[in-house]
Amino acid sequence: MEMKAIALLAIHCLALFYPGHGLSAHGPLTKEEDSELEARLKTLNKPPVRTLKAFNGDIIDCIDMYKQPAFDHPLLKNHKIEIKPSFLPLGVKKKRTAQATPVEQPYLLGECPNGTVPIRRTTKEDLIRHHFYGKTYVPKYNSSLVAPPLTHFAYLSLEAYKRGPLFTAEGYIDVYNPNVEAGQFSTGQILITDGPEELSASKIEAGWMVNPNLYGDHLTHFFTRWTGGGGVGTGCYDMACPGFVQTNPRIPVGFVLRNFSVYGHVPYDIVVQVGQRRRGSWWLFYGDKRDEIGYWPRNLFQYFSSGASRISFGGQVGRAPNRPSPPMGSGHFPDHDFTHSSYIRLIRYRSSQKRLETPSRDGTATHVDVPLCYNVTDEGDLGGVTGYATTFGGPGGNCD
Ligand SMILES: *[C@@H]1O[C@H](CO)[C@@H](O)[C@H](O)[C@H]1NC(C)=O
Ligand SMILES: *[C@@H]1O[C@H](CO)[C@@H](O)[C@H](O)[C@H]1NC(C)=O
Ligand SMILES: *[C@@H]1O[C@H](CO)[C@@H](O)[C@H](O)[C@H]1NC(C)=O
Ligand SMILES: *[C@@H]1O[C@H](CO)[C@@H](O)[C@H](O)[C@H]1NC(C)=O
Repeated sequence: MEMKAIALLAIHCLALFYPGHGLSAHGPLTKEEDSELEARLKTLNKPPVRTLKAFNGDIIDCIDMYKQPAFDHPLLKNHKIEIKPSFLPLGVKKKRTAQATPVEQPYLLGECPNGTVPIRRTTKEDLIRHHFYGKTYVPKYNSSLVAPPLTHFAYLSLEAYKRGPLFTAEGYIDVYNPNVEAGQFSTGQILITDGPEELSASKIEAGWMVNPNLYGDHLTHFFTRWTGGGGVGTGCYDMACPGFVQTNPRIPVGFVLRNFSVYGHVPYDIVVQVGQRRRGSWWLFYGDKRDEIGYWPRNLFQYFSSGASRISFGGQVGRAPNRPSPPMGSGHFPDHDFTHSSYIRLIRYRSSQKRLETPSRDGTATHVDVPLCYNVTDEGDLGGVTGYATTFGGPGGNCD
């Protein structure tokens, strides 16, 4: 019985990565494909206690906290839910009030009842979109749940070897809404990695993203993504597969950021902090008050047992092979003007100390894979409300 459940779930997880299983690229779904999709939807969408709407028509189910999809993950079978992190987020001086940071311009219309958490409902259309970028192209992994095969990045990174393992990363991420088409995505994000090499590393990502295939719209979403690492191919965006445990009753992962920056105007940014304490879960905090959103249990990951080896701040874009690369950030190359290109300011980390620290210039490095299309700057520590900052972005286009 147990084995069967695990086997089924393994197939489900695999299907998220290799959805070629049983799904044809063209034309209407066959009966088998349809029932496969229905089965997947049943796993992802638990019976709701209440159903809410988001301003853009997204359906949000209030799910019993203890019955959320994360707990279908075989590795989380005996996992005891953490209602609260065992530690306070760093960098907030005042004791936090019960009131959550409002998501500027509300996304959710209504509130989930006590003991439930909001989870964006996955529709059949979502699953179909996740699998195909378009009629003419079946991506290598047939899915935007993993990054499409062709990605580019522009990051400012801190490496652990200079200062010991890294346990917390925080930054104020400038939010944009770049023009991104189907078969493309664009992010401004924090990336935390651990493990021997890029392909098999464990990863946690959080920030904003425009991804029409994933979300079915051109809006800017607060996104998360995890990668188990070890070459096993587990992990996904937000709640698209079991893994992330949502604990915040008001702020679901994947929500729409309705405010964003516009070139040349006063920018709009969001605070994102991700941290681990004492080999425990990795918690995600959001907003001025560092509200906890939820966490990734440690045993989802091959690595990350005690901190991370690298944290990066910047942008990532992806495209299907038949598409140009989308704009990153504001779509403009950085020129040191914080109203022109996307930035991440007040970059801080925690290593051996109990508090957040500001990087020093000799401990950072910039990485950009196609300077023709994107760039990144290391602004150093500018002090005041800017702190240690990076600016990044570019117009994209035909970069290869
Ligand atoms: C992707 O889908 C195509 C067509 O359904 C299939 O032939 C191919 O094997 C799939 N790729 C993977 C990696 O599953
Ligand atoms: C939810 O629970 C909290 C604490 O247990 C309580 O103070 C509050 O009144 C409850 N809210 C509702 C709507 O039941
Ligand atoms: C968000 O956008 C609305 C409408 O454009 C604006 O009134 C509000 O001031 C913005 N909020 C922030 C925090 O920038
Ligand atoms: C990229 O930014 C660096 C500063 O970080 C600058 O020296 C370099 O000229 C830029 N490259 C391009 C192609 O604009």
